[in-house]
Amino acid sequence: MQTGVAAHHSSLGEKDNRALASIFAAYTVSATLWLLFATAVGLLLAYKFGAPDFGAGAWLTFGRLRPIHTNATFYGWASVALVGLAYYVAARSSRISLYSVKLAWIGLVLFNVAAVAGTVALDLGYNDGNLEYREWPWPIRFVFLAALVVTAWNLIGTVARRSTDDIYLSNWYTIGGVLWTCIIALVAILPWYQYGLGQVSVSGYYMHNAVGMWFTPLALGIFYYALPRLVSRPIYSYALGVFAFWTNLVFYPIIGAHHFLFSPLPWWLQTTAIVFSVAMLVPVWGGSANFLLTMRGRVRDLTHSYPLMFVLVGVLGYLVGSTQGTVEAFRSLQEVWHLTNFTVGHSHLTMYGFITFAIWGGVYALLPLATGKEPGRLGLMLHFWMAVVGSFIYVISLSIGGTIQGLDWKSGLPFIQSVVDMQAYHVWRGVGGSLMFLSHIVFAWNVWRMTYGRTAKAAPLVALPVGEAAA
Ligand code: HEM
Ligand code: HEM
Repeated sequence: MQTGVAAHHSSLGEKDNRALASIFAAYTVSATLWLLFATAVGLLLAYKFGAPDFGAGAWLTFGRLRPIHTNATFYGWASVALVGLAYYVAARSSRISLYSVKLAWIGLVLFNVAAVAGTVALDLGYNDGNLEYREWPWPIRFVFLAALVVTAWNLIGTVARRSTDDIYLSNWYTIGGVLWTCIIALVAILPWYQYGLGQVSVSGYYMHNAVGMWFTPLALGIFYYALPRLVSRPIYSYALGVFAFWTNLVFYPIIGAHHFLFSPLPWWLQTTAIVFSVAMLVPVWGGSANFLLTMRGRVRDLTHSYPLMFVLVGVLGYLVGSTQGTVEAFRSLQEVWHLTNFTVGHSHLTMYGFITFAIWGGVYALLPLATGKEPGRLGLMLHFWMAVVGSFIYVISLSIGGTIQGLDWKSGLPFIQSVVDMQAYHVWRGVGGSLMFLSHIVFAWNVWRMTYGRTAKAAPLVALPVGEAAA
């Protein structure tokens, strides 16, 4: 079993290296453009809470822009960025070239066709109704499914041809993630699951598996590869990583009904979802402990390495956000928080504080190794601090405001009172969101410098283990 990072240095030829680097760069650039677009829309949505009449035309209504924001962040930004990273990690850790460079390009085109078509359809008012995170009309979701199948095939093909004895832990997570997601994407399309109470149940199943069996394993896979490189030591425990993988796989698929507590879904199904939401503490705390113990005693490295700081925030986002999710799943707390802005805070603590920071950490740690180009330290610093401070303001304001909102509802006050009480918190969300968006512009500049821009003469940002420098 491979336990050390030094064990998987590159043995690819120059041509393979260049092909891998151009795939990784193209996925990252494409994802970054989607991040800019999707969060510009998110910011507009946030401002609309303060100025609802701003942009009142049909194309700019809240109802059309909200699913554009969520689908574009999920499928244009996070999915594409994570697949680009997964390709790089699969090839490098397996010490082999990509199974098919052509398939990787086809996948990128399919992902983008789906995201563009989905965005246009939603803005024209074609929306698959109340199916959250799958509002794109179903033929477009088929295109996304095709992109997933191509990606799964290519990743499995790459790892199957590895020149190492064992499958490196990261690839367990990424291959597990793509395979599972092909299944949930199919379940989300099959027509006989899409009506009545069955649809409610499938909606919860889809929503939580999209975050738990797609974004989460891919992001964890990146941690398992990038972290040992950043701190120049093997992961604390390979066995704990495998244990967290299997427990995640067993517990996650059955917690979806916690989105529909107090609904007409069978009571036992809701209770099962709560019980397994508590069981999720096992993989979450096990995995987080593994990452934090890998970083132990490296406080000095943290102050020198922004990529490591991004990874640390990502790990804390995973630990705190998921633990918050467990607490949120109890009936007594759902009574207060369900349907309030508290949940929007949880969504951003996890999808932003965990997934998005994990992607940034992975990109800053690995893209310079692929392209040989680094961003400047000022760009890294601005990106990091604006994103951290902005998202902190965003999450804290919505968590406090959302709790007040829920308590207002519970005590039977007129609904408008909760709107008045939320006003200040919505303004603060706008302030945090503005900082987050500004940080994305800086990120785009950094990505440009790491890919197609002129080479920056910055000091190496990534501490490399012996034998890695040429990778
Ligand atoms: C593993 C432990 C987790 C548990 C037990 C959990 C629990 C919950 C619960 C109970 C809700 C429903 C809130 C409501 O409707 O009132 C929720 C919503 C949500 N969670 Fe989590 N969560 C966890 C981790 C995560 C992670 C890691 C992510 C992202 C990667 C995530 C993303 C979301 C999102 C986006 C929503 C909003 C869904 C919606 O639109 O209704 N959660 N979570
Ligand atoms: C500048 C940064 C961002 C801003 C200002 C922003 C703003 C917003 C706003 C205003 C909403 C609607 C909330 C509501 O309906 O009450 C929302 C929803 C959402 N956003 Fe963002 N967002 C940003 C970044 C992101 C990113 C990067 C992701 C994912 C990677 C993301 C994922 C989501 C999700 C999952 C929801 C649905 C929340 C739920 O139903 O609980 N957002 N966002």
